[in-house]
Amino acid sequence: MNKSFTSLNTNVIFVDNYNQLSQKISSYGSNFLFVVDENTSKMVRPLPEPNVILKSGENYKNFRSIVKILKQAADHHLSRETIFIAFGGGVVCDLTAFASSVFMRGAKLTLIPTTLLSMVDASLGGKTGFDFNDSKNLIGSFYPADEVIICPDTLISLSDQEFKNGLAEVLKHALLSKDDKLYLTLVNNKEKIFQRDIETLNELIYLSLQVKNDFISKDPKETKNIRQALNLGHTFGHALETHTHFSAWSHGEAVAWGVGRAIETGVKLGITTPEFAYGVNKLFRYFNFDFNYRLDRSEWQDYQIQLLKDKKRNNQLINFVLLKGQGDFVLQNVDFELIKDVVLKKALY
Ligand code: GLY
Repeated sequence: MNKSFTSLNTNVIFVDNYNQLSQKISSYGSNFLFVVDENTSKMVRPLPEPNVILKSGENYKNFRSIVKILKQAADHHLSRETIFIAFGGGVVCDLTAFASSVFMRGAKLTLIPTTLLSMVDASLGGKTGFDFNDSKNLIGSFYPADEVIICPDTLISLSDQEFKNGLAEVLKHALLSKDDKLYLTLVNNKEKIFQRDIETLNELIYLSLQVKNDFISKDPKETKNIRQALNLGHTFGHALETHTHFSAWSHGEAVAWGVGRAIETGVKLGITTPEFAYGVNKLFRYFNFDFNYRLDRSEWQDYQIQLLKDKKRNNQLINFVLLKGQGDFVLQNVDFELIKDVVLKKALY
């Protein structure tokens, strides 16, 4: 029996392998538009028609790609009943979902995430969008997919770096979870996880999505200061990514580092217990994340500029997600002196 559950209006279905996935796609009949990028187009042979092949990467998460999807939909006289199917990572999923949300005021949508990161994050919760005016995801809509299909077979060919990228979000979900199931699955199965054992990955993804579901079902549009918890580590981490021009740190590694900074900030403010901080440190280091990296003092000015660009800023203060303990978060403004203290190397004199 395949795992499945419902989140908002989305049916999340786990299939065992590519065979089951293609049977599922065949069951849609012919009224669909299949969206891939240059990488994922190679994973499906023959590529279902009609299709759109987008250029790969964040640089193409733009309005042009949206137009490309919509033009294909219009040229083929597709309708509101057409299922837009995204087969790819977070960029393909977010673009396809946005295009689906505006085509004839909303077509049907199936997401088939092909990376660990997009399985445990972008696929669920209805955030769609594209980058605009140099701002990440500036334009978007909330449009939960009708269906998300998880096929862990797609993870076998991921690079180690891309796999680790998703693992950081799974670890983050373990910290946000009210129970220990995900945490214990992680610490008891490290070898199997790195060997990409399908059954273990299925369990990991399922539990991770349950945690995400817990937050989005209580606060679907991020208006109640609940869903924001999912941004744990992201404010510190995203500023590191932009500060290093998206070259030195993958998203997941930067987020993991950001979790470290958030934990340290919490300890300094007396919010996070030192025992919990010790456990978190151990967990991330166990999975080989560089948790305690520090920036040079000369980097502070640019790092601060990147932090201020964060869309969650409130005047000069930035809201951070901090943890009191497992599954117990607070949103807190933190002043720049404290941020400086947790991101920079200590002064020598
Ligand atoms: N990626 C965080 C969220 O979906 O809210």
